[in-house]
Amino acid sequence: MTSYKELGLVNTRDMFAKAVKGGYAIPAYNFNNMEQLQAIIMACVETKSPVILQVSKGARDYANINLLRNMARGATEYAHELGYDIPIVLHLDHGDSFETCKDCIDNGFSSVMIDGSSLPYEENIAVTKKVVEYAHQFDVTVEGELGVLAGIEDEVSSAVSHYTQPSEVIDFVSKTGVDSLAISIGTSHGANKFTPEQCTRNADGILIPPPLRFDILAEIEEKLPGFPIVLHGSSSVPQEYVKMINEHGGKLKDSVGIPEEQLRQAAKSAVCKINIDSDGRLAMTGTIRRIFDEHPEVFDPRKYLGPAREALKEMYEHKNRDVLGSAGKA
Ligand code: G3H
Ligand code: 13P
Ligand code: ZN
Repeated sequence: MTSYKELGLVNTRDMFAKAVKGGYAIPAYNFNNMEQLQAIIMACVETKSPVILQVSKGARDYANINLLRNMARGATEYAHELGYDIPIVLHLDHGDSFETCKDCIDNGFSSVMIDGSSLPYEENIAVTKKVVEYAHQFDVTVEGELGVLAGIEDEVSSAVSHYTQPSEVIDFVSKTGVDSLAISIGTSHGANKFTPEQCTRNADGILIPPPLRFDILAEIEEKLPGFPIVLHGSSSVPQEYVKMINEHGGKLKDSVGIPEEQLRQAAKSAVCKINIDSDGRLAMTGTIRRIFDEHPEVFDPRKYLGPAREALKEMYEHKNRDVLGSAGKA
């Protein structure tokens, strides 16, 4: 058993309390490899932002749990070396079972998500409560989820979304004891969040997605005053990277994300954690495709992973400063 405290990590409790009070959101950036981790830490130290390093079940299988634990330790030491000890959380994203959550807690994670959102309500409560009871013995915080997001990734998939029902949130939070709650108000996983039919087009033919359901968020806030709320599926799908990918041999079609303005608005509410994965994938893939296309002679991975890391860092700095409001809050 490794406690996250030995790795220099923190849980989400204080971080979320400050974020809800301060009207900003903590970035939860997914990572799978060294360059992504370096970019996240460099950007968050540069902007003095607290950060949640997020590992999906797929990432855990890809990178290896022992390496991840040591990468997290490395991240806290790296931040220190860069000159600023930002608060860092290591979080399991979309934990699918009690066993996965327990394994992560035993391996130095300071926070876990148990995603029972696709289960019948009573089963979601039962598994979430079981994770909370185990996690809290070690001062690890737990995120639960009510409502289903649309979108598809390796481990998370649903064709349609079901908005969170505000009438259920008090019962769910009090019966499970979760520390934060992920809700569904119209965000969606992946780079194709909405079909063109769900969107309108502006004068330039750009797809404009349907607005988030801030009315549902307001109802939830009214029922759970000051309780930390989480938004998944919050990539903005920057069109510059979609274009870069497609101009250099990629094939992304109708990729559309959540407008930054709406995330800015959400961050000012009880939404205190905003999950972003797809935008990192787009920035990395766009940059690497461009370099491969423009410099076919390159075969040293540092020559394309280095610029990809730089693009990620710049994008994360922008999000911290201009979208989530987390810059300067560490
Ligand atoms: O919400 C899920 C994340 O984007 C992780 O995706 O399962 O493909 O690693 P993944
Ligand atoms: P995106 O696919 O919008 O980046 O969402 C990521 C996410 O919710 C991770 O849990
Ligand atoms: Zn998610």
